[in-house]
Amino acid sequence: MALPPEFLSELKYRNDIESVVGSYVNLRRRGSNLVGLCPFHNEKTPSFTLYPENGSYYCFGCGAGGDVITFIRAIENLDYMEAVRFLADRAGMQVPEQGYDDSAARIRAQILEMNRAAAHFFHEMLLSPQGAAAREYLAARQLSPATIRHFGLGYAPDDWTGLTRYLEGKGFPADVIVLADLAGKSKNGRVYDRFRNKIMFPIIDLRGGVIAFGGRKMPNDEGAKYINSSDTPVYKKSRNVYALNFAKNVKGDSLILAEGYMDVISLHQAGFENAVAALGTSFTSEQAHLLSRYAKEIVVTLDADAAGQRATARAIEILNEAGVRVRVLRIPDGKDPDEFIKAHGAEKFRLLLEDAGNDIEYKLLCAREGFDLSAESGRMLYLQKAVEILAGVDDAIARELYAGRLGQEFGVSKDAVVNQLRQKRSRSQARQSKQQLRQIVAPGKKRDEVNPERARYPRAARAEECLLTLLMYHPDLARQSEEKLPPDHFLTRFHRRVYEQVLAQSQTGVPFDLSLCGGEFTPAEMGRIVELQNRPFSKENAVAEWKDCIRVILEEKEKDNAPAPADMDTEQWARNIQKITQRKEKPHG
Ligand code: CTP
Ligand code: MN
Repeated sequence: MALPPEFLSELKYRNDIESVVGSYVNLRRRGSNLVGLCPFHNEKTPSFTLYPENGSYYCFGCGAGGDVITFIRAIENLDYMEAVRFLADRAGMQVPEQGYDDSAARIRAQILEMNRAAAHFFHEMLLSPQGAAAREYLAARQLSPATIRHFGLGYAPDDWTGLTRYLEGKGFPADVIVLADLAGKSKNGRVYDRFRNKIMFPIIDLRGGVIAFGGRKMPNDEGAKYINSSDTPVYKKSRNVYALNFAKNVKGDSLILAEGYMDVISLHQAGFENAVAALGTSFTSEQAHLLSRYAKEIVVTLDADAAGQRATARAIEILNEAGVRVRVLRIPDGKDPDEFIKAHGAEKFRLLLEDAGNDIEYKLLCAREGFDLSAESGRMLYLQKAVEILAGVDDAIARELYAGRLGQEFGVSKDAVVNQLRQKRSRSQARQSKQQLRQIVAPGKKRDEVNPERARYPRAARAEECLLTLLMYHPDLARQSEEKLPPDHFLTRFHRRVYEQVLAQSQTGVPFDLSLCGGEFTPAEMGRIVELQNRPFSKENAVAEWKDCIRVILEEKEKDNAPAPADMDTEQWARNIQKITQRKEKPHG
């Protein structure tokens, strides 16, 4: 099943982890390692560490980790074989054709092919007599035939099986149609089209694949305005951005973030081809990181209503953390970009775009709306609020600048504002660093997704971890381990799988190699394996520690098999209770 080890080591050699990761993350040297801001979660101080020595990375903030293949899987959103191919292409290597399980990649390829056929079907339907009303609607919204073609818009007929019959006719199995979320399956097993009587928006990824669809209801129809594909093997909505396939080709380093399909399409038609939209979700940090690879600046233009303002505040925060500059374009009269362009034309929109202030100006502007600035007390309160806003700004020059402006506008000295600011900042910084520390020390009470049984068997799990780390560096102890402790004695399933992997690798006699287990573990699991690999352990006492670990695991296994308390005899009970009370009293004595 697995790829040949020689191929993998060649692949790793030719895709040196430092240069691969370095093309996504700004790395700085720290001792023999490199550090940078983690691309997998938002952070301001680097906890992402690269270990060139063994070709791995690990983030102390979020637990992401693995080898160069895991990194590409996670950051490019690929499965294992696709990541291998990606790296092979990068290094000009051929992936050996036989000996691996390709089924997941095959299904993805089939879904992509099918989605393309579906997009074709919807588009043809729009142009057919059945699509007359939909065509009229789009014309009323002033979309030109060229725009409709460019975005591949379509129409899903008012029919429960129109698309399904078409796709089955092309040889796509019903199960795959359901898997792609183009059809649903009723309780009695009937397969029916998910999109009926809808204007269809195909969602296209950066490689030109049709990965999902959005459907808008017709004006005379009932129900939700939009329905969207849910996540499928080829689509994760939190990781994709609508129209980035076009927008990424626009020159310049600025993108416009709008709210919906129609806004983006109108903007493109009006000449703003750098517009994109998040897909029916609140904007995510994954989306922000994706955008940050194509733009240094994002102009956010969401609806002006209360929900839109909250969404804007959140988008600003997420984009700031992803390291992009933000400006906010506010559209007058509560319109969205689509409506504004229709009412006032592209040139007026261009002026708004040029005028859009940065995120700080936007926040100050929003804050003003809550206060009566004609009254002294209102001005005071606003000033306080404004200082609070500025205290959250990391750029010292910007802080100075706006402190000066505030002072000027409200007739107070700049120094007074700066002083206030300094106080607020030192307090909030202390709070923040404490919070960060707490997160690193006790990474939350979140459920352990990788090893859910850890919570049930904490003592055994700790011993298992310790043993695994030891064996990674002492393949010579593997054979004896296996004799004393067969894998089925492990109490947690994830560790058992790692144990099996470590034992299998130990037969070569060389230390554990992360890249030899890539195909069998998910990226999250790989992160945990790197964590195990990087755990400190005492080299001098390896054998003693090894014995201890095995003893503890065997003890815990025994306990797990032991009869429930109800089966203990009274004598045993008494002894147990005695033990417990003695232990309690010790610290006093
Ligand atoms: N959306 C959604 N589900 C809904 C409503 C909205 O997924 N029930 C998403 C869609 O991606 C939509 C975006 O949120 O494009 C913005 O919604 P809205 O402003 O209501 O729609 P518009 O894009 O303005 O659509 P239209 O102009 O056709 O009303
Ligand atoms: Mn609209």
